[in-house]
Amino acid sequence: MPSFFCRKEMYEFNLILNSAHTILGCMELLKRVKGCEGILCVLTEKIDAQLLNAAGPNLKVVSTMSVGFDHLSLDELKKRGIRVGYTPDVLTDCVAELTVALLLATSRRLIEATHEAKTGGWGTWRTLWLCGHELANSTVGILGLGRIGVAIAERLKPFKVKKFIYTDVALRPELANMIEAEYVSLDELAKQSDFLAICCALTPETYGICNWNLFSKMKKNAIFINTSRGGVVNQEDLYEALSTGLIAGAGLDVTTPEPLPTHHPLFTLKNCVILPHVASASYTTRNSMSALAANNLLAGLRGEPMPKELKL
Ligand code: GLV
Ligand code: GLV
Repeated sequence: MPSFFCRKEMYEFNLILNSAHTILGCMELLKRVKGCEGILCVLTEKIDAQLLNAAGPNLKVVSTMSVGFDHLSLDELKKRGIRVGYTPDVLTDCVAELTVALLLATSRRLIEATHEAKTGGWGTWRTLWLCGHELANSTVGILGLGRIGVAIAERLKPFKVKKFIYTDVALRPELANMIEAEYVSLDELAKQSDFLAICCALTPETYGICNWNLFSKMKKNAIFINTSRGGVVNQEDLYEALSTGLIAGAGLDVTTPEPLPTHHPLFTLKNCVILPHVASASYTTRNSMSALAANNLLAGLRGEPMPKELKL
């Protein structure tokens, strides 16, 4: 836990801080959590049975500074009666903004284009050079319609998107109405989308859901964007889809593993834009997330209602 996350009220508790900007190794983490009543973690820290056992029976609350909670073993937490806080809402705008940036960078080939300009590839203005795909008159598909999916659609609408479609484990009429999105099956989502944004949580149901079966139904001009979790994508299948021109491009803010090794085949593809998990990385949002995570932790320790508690 970097020290700037630390609020004054937190000093009423005995804090053990990881003030280095590095991830603690598993053994070190297991040692440090021993006897703790609360843990404030980030998404790189696995909160599983081993860690909970190492912490021991005093542990009352786990507060993660993230909206995603696939790094938490919810069953194990529930079994032990440990309360869980997370940070939804405060990062929605920031993540939506980055998703749009990544979508445009991918569809209009911005990374390739700056590289060409810098490295001498810019011989002259050429009619089809660096052509991409535009949002105007397009169909945008959203896999997993939650707060972030809606915020992305709201931002894309002024680009004259023709139609929004979505799929999810359930109909989301209230959210869908906000962006006039039509519910379709996963097959139809793949078939109709010119741009497909992945906005679902990583769960056993969504693990590897973006695989050959999905990519092979997509349009040749389709752009695939993932700002949720790497685990929803079968990366070998995505590599095949991108390298054989089955789809036009992919923008990934999340991968498996993270960091993605620099020799990974996806890095060799010009039509794949890879970011190092930065969707919520604005000063404002990271500060809001840290404050919310701290407030969740404090409320949990005091036995009060948490500002954002995950219902287990
Ligand atoms: C970021 O990926 C988060 O879950 O907050
Ligand atoms: C492009 O710069 C154009 O003038 O068409």
